[in-house]
Amino acid sequence: MVPMVDLKKQFSEIKEEVFNILTEILESAHYILGPKVSELETLIARYHGVSEAVGVASGTDALHLSIDALGIGEGDEVITTPFTFFATVEAILYTGAMPVFVDIEPDTLNIDVSKIEAKITDKTRAILPVHIFGHPADMEEIMKIANKHGLKVIEDCAQAFGAGIKGRKVGSFGDVGCFSFYPSKNLGAYGDGGMITLNDSSVADETRKLRNHGSKGAYRHEAVGFNSRLDEIQAGILLVKFRRIDEYNRKRREKAALYNKLLSNRVKCPVEKEDAYHVYHQYTIMSPMRDKIQKALKDRGISSVIYYSIPLHLQEAMKFMGHREGDFPVAEKASREVLSLPIYPELEESVIREISEIIIDV
Ligand SMILES: Cc1ncc(COP(=O)(O)O)c(C=O)c1O
Repeated sequence: MVPMVDLKKQFSEIKEEVFNILTEILESAHYILGPKVSELETLIARYHGVSEAVGVASGTDALHLSIDALGIGEGDEVITTPFTFFATVEAILYTGAMPVFVDIEPDTLNIDVSKIEAKITDKTRAILPVHIFGHPADMEEIMKIANKHGLKVIEDCAQAFGAGIKGRKVGSFGDVGCFSFYPSKNLGAYGDGGMITLNDSSVADETRKLRNHGSKGAYRHEAVGFNSRLDEIQAGILLVKFRRIDEYNRKRREKAALYNKLLSNRVKCPVEKEDAYHVYHQYTIMSPMRDKIQKALKDRGISSVIYYSIPLHLQEAMKFMGHREGDFPVAEKASREVLSLPIYPELEESVIREISEIIIDV
């Protein structure tokens, strides 16, 4: 079976470096909040051109702790997209705040900035764009709206490590950037992990406190926090992969370019806006014949996944918001037509050609 992402192949290429760093960490007996986490935080802050980075236990926690540290909670509203992974809204709801959905753009599938202002109320405290599938949301416009209305901006960069606009990286535009190191992400650990990037040192200190039981150390607890630390072993693995992230992203872009060339007049291919640097966490096509295409691929041993078959406003768990079908038509259409194809740095050109031929045949 052709997988969506081939982590075995990637591991075989970095095995020696991974084993070396793991041995070093295991022998050091320093497993939580040690030098590898600090080193990774420093490198990731520098990579994004921000002054602070805080390692946490997952991308979900990066969002949750950030929203909390920004002082957003009960009675507040956070504007976001209905076309994302469920964790985006879970993180808002954990704090007691309410998500408010804005429909997406039909081309990038990111939040439609022209529809944001209509949703701002006196309870709105923040905008939470998601750089879906690795394509940056329109951060320049989002920052303009946020500044005009005095709102915070929390970037969900879980799928977009290394993506950018005019050379500036996502995770450096808003008040905070939230990253996931889930294994299949462009920069993935061998377990869960996450990172917050930001410039405000007092918010950074607040997230450091929240990740460690509300404590700055020495068993003094200033707040009720969480156990949400990135561990040394994951940080060590991430250090090995971080050295290669630009190359991994470049290779993803090459694979995407070949898919585009082969498929662009047959199905709707992902777009890359002018000035945007797309890192193709997913290569997602759209077609009304999506289900037929998926079946044909499966019959030939090729994986494909529907991210996301149900937009968040129609999820069972979100019924309490009272939304109905038709509320966000662009997101709903995307859910009916999207199909993500295998994409990863090690994917062979011949496989891309085979996949494309199957799709064209359908
Ligand atoms: C857009 C988005 N937000 C948040 C998350 C949550 O990240 P994690 O799985 O590391 O908690 C993910 C991925 O899993 C994601 O894709």
